[in-house]
Amino acid sequence: MTRSYRFPVGFVWGAATSAYQIEGSPLADGAGPSIWQRFAHTPGMMANGDHGDVACDHYRRYKDDVQLMRALGLQSYRFSIAWARVLPEGTGRVNQKGLDFYSRLVDELLANGIEPNATLFHWDLPAALDDRGGWLNRDVAHWFAEYAQVMFDALDDRVKRWSTINEPWVVTDGGYLHGALAPGHRSKYEAPIVAHNLMRASGAAIQVYRAMGRHQIGVVFNIEPKYPASQSRADVAAARRAHAYMNEQFANPALLGSYPPELKEIFGDAWPDFPAEDFQLTKQPVDFVGINYYTRSVVKHDDDGYPCHATRVRQANATHTETDWEVYEQGLVDTLMWFKDRYGDLPLYITENGAAFYDPPVAEGNVVEDPLRIAYLRKHLRALHQCIEAGVNLKGYYAWSLLDNLEWSLGFAKRFGLYHVDYASLKRTPKASAKFYAKVIETNGEAL
Ligand code: NOJ
Repeated sequence: MTRSYRFPVGFVWGAATSAYQIEGSPLADGAGPSIWQRFAHTPGMMANGDHGDVACDHYRRYKDDVQLMRALGLQSYRFSIAWARVLPEGTGRVNQKGLDFYSRLVDELLANGIEPNATLFHWDLPAALDDRGGWLNRDVAHWFAEYAQVMFDALDDRVKRWSTINEPWVVTDGGYLHGALAPGHRSKYEAPIVAHNLMRASGAAIQVYRAMGRHQIGVVFNIEPKYPASQSRADVAAARRAHAYMNEQFANPALLGSYPPELKEIFGDAWPDFPAEDFQLTKQPVDFVGINYYTRSVVKHDDDGYPCHATRVRQANATHTETDWEVYEQGLVDTLMWFKDRYGDLPLYITENGAAFYDPPVAEGNVVEDPLRIAYLRKHLRALHQCIEAGVNLKGYYAWSLLDNLEWSLGFAKRFGLYHVDYASLKRTPKASAKFYAKVIETNGEAL
């Protein structure tokens, strides 16, 4: 008998993007600058000098892009809202024109039978708030709650699924520890404070939602399972630290109301004593958790590994993507099993999964053959099917990404899209993976 990969009835098929990566026109219609606007225009920060001034021009082409989603048969579209379009100073004055953009986008999605799934924060903090300390300032939880309330007021009549924060680990590690992402700080003392305030802010927004929201809200973590390079005690401990740092540092305060003990070991005197009452705020009941999964890492003990005394051991015989991430679909199974075990049977969504590969130029007949991306998607979707059979409460899947877009400081060269974007003409062309994914959606997984 051949195996069937049919997914459960009601499983949600989607694709995801984020505001700064696709919209362009970052200062249009009264928007304030974000930290990404600043960072991208700081010499030396972005590969190739790329920035989001135009990006995919989605701000102006959103209607066409909704038609691309429709062609895929998407049931849901995950996007993020640029905080500084709505509140140019981050708090206080609402910029109606910025709000209207998202309202129009939501209407356009619904008119085309696509459920909007909105993320409140996908990294583009208003620059005005950064000037007041940004994620380092404890008041950020109130600022975020105020912004969240504006968005719920405006869109909760039509948006049925919200996320607070996307990938708090990346914000912390990239933005405040290693300086590779906005706002470009490098401080072991700042990183834990930022991580904590991100989760306080997420909790504060969930509290607001409980008082007024009518649908569902959750939070999105990037989970990267860590495997020890050997069974030596040192390597096993290194993997445990790396896991605590990247995965549990965020999921634990949100879902258990505490931090794993390894963090104190990792940060030493840079790890603050957080007030106990903060954990009531971080641990707000969520309706679901979004997991972004791309890769795993195998790690070994290394005294010079920063900040966990661990370094990655590259798996020479594995396939790697253009971002040098190992393709390892078993990690997705391990992640979901671990999650269920550790945090209970919460409804889960894969809110991102995908791969950057070298794509050949658009050929005659408008095709872009991307067999490696298809293979990546197929393997990961099959792995998810296996998880569902094993009892994981998985509700949906969002491919990253609808379109090629600005891969943050790596610029436009890393292409994750189902649709190819020609950045000179802004023309979109479906890759072979778009056709593959459309077929998967149409057959609810049978075509896998
Ligand atoms: C996760 C982030 O949420 C998204 O913004 C990014 O482009 C993808 N990973 C790929 O790195």
